Amino acid sequence: MMTDKYHVQGFSLAEDNSELKKQIFAVASGKGGTGKSTVAINLSVSLAALGYEVILVDADLGGSDISNLMGVSSPRYTLKDFISNEVTYLAEVLEPTPSPKLRLICGGSDIISISNPLYQQKMRLIRNISRLEADYIIVDLGPDISFNNLDFFNAAPVRFLVTQNIDAIILGFYRFMKAAFVRCLKQEFKEEDYVLNIINDFQNLGWSRTRRNLVGAIRAASQETHDRLDHILETFQPKLVFNMVDSPAARRTADQMFSFILENFGFRLQTATYIPRDKDVERAYARSEPFVLRYPKSDATKAIYEMIVSCGLNKTSSGERMENFMHFSRQLKIEAQGWQFVKI
Ligand SMILES: Nc1ncnc2c1ncn2[C@@H]1O[C@H](COP(=O)(O)OP(=O)(O)OP(=O)(O)O)[C@@H](O)[C@H]1O
Ligand SMILES: [Mg+2]
Repeated sequence: MMTDKYHVQGFSLAEDNSELKKQIFAVASGKGGTGKSTVAINLSVSLAALGYEVILVDADLGGSDISNLMGVSSPRYTLKDFISNEVTYLAEVLEPTPSPKLRLICGGSDIISISNPLYQQKMRLIRNISRLEADYIIVDLGPDISFNNLDFFNAAPVRFLVTQNIDAIILGFYRFMKAAFVRCLKQEFKEEDYVLNIINDFQNLGWSRTRRNLVGAIRAASQETHDRLDHILETFQPKLVFNMVDSPAARRTADQMFSFILENFGFRLQTATYIPRDKDVERAYARSEPFVLRYPKSDATKAIYEMIVSCGLNKTSSGERMENFMHFSRQLKIEAQGWQFVKI
């Protein structure tokens, strides 16, 4: 039977209608330093500037840095306090930011003790993130291909993968995506040993020998697995954020990635945006400022606008249609007034 437990690992468990309205975005990459936190922060601030209630969660349990990057010093509580049961409700860990509509859940500073939470602790965290009250929840993940990152990623209904046109980073992207997809299949078919065997064979025999057979073999197993697989292929469609783009070659690489993934995995990759390599991003980063607020007309800000539009989010919280980039830029300028940036 097709199950709504496809997302049983977390966020998209729709216990009531309010869960359905809320969107949870995960930002991952499979490599360090690709720009995940930069994207997560600027997307969060942008949605808050459009009037939405937003919560940004620093779930990079091994190397949290969002609070520093946003200039939010000494948070009262962090995820560590929730994971170690110092506080009962995740909502108690929320920290304000200079954007009235944006709140933050900081990662812990004593990171070693929480970088590898027990399974139960992780599931409690994922469940509680999905219960937070907000219009949008953005979850910034760590760079490694750990079960933590994979489970947080798979649990979010909208998943961004940030990559760059550099071989090692694209390799990290493929590895992460493949691991997330396989974990998702294993979760869906955990009761069906014969499908699990097919998946295990795929993992054990390696990429090249069986790559064309994984999806086909599962599909051929029975009509029921065929339908459930199709459901996964329809929903498992990560959105690609190509970052630090400095030549048209990135678009060609993206096209190759799309065909490769469609041919070998059977699902479509979607493009969320191409963010140029932009000095304004680096300048803002160095001062712990969101670049969309400091440089609301920059090319990188335009890319964040495209990302938002690609998610179908081209209106403000009051329902006003966002006509164009200038409109978006104006909203950001208004939002920036609350941040009291140092004059430069
Ligand atoms: N579009 C861009 N143009 C120029 N510099 C960028 C761009 N995006 C990110 N950077 C720079 O890349 C560096 C890494 O960014 P960031 O911390 O967001 O990456 P990350 O993927 O979160 O890293 P980690 O894996 O360590 O968490 C920063 O110095 C940031 O300023
Ligand atoms: Mg980061």
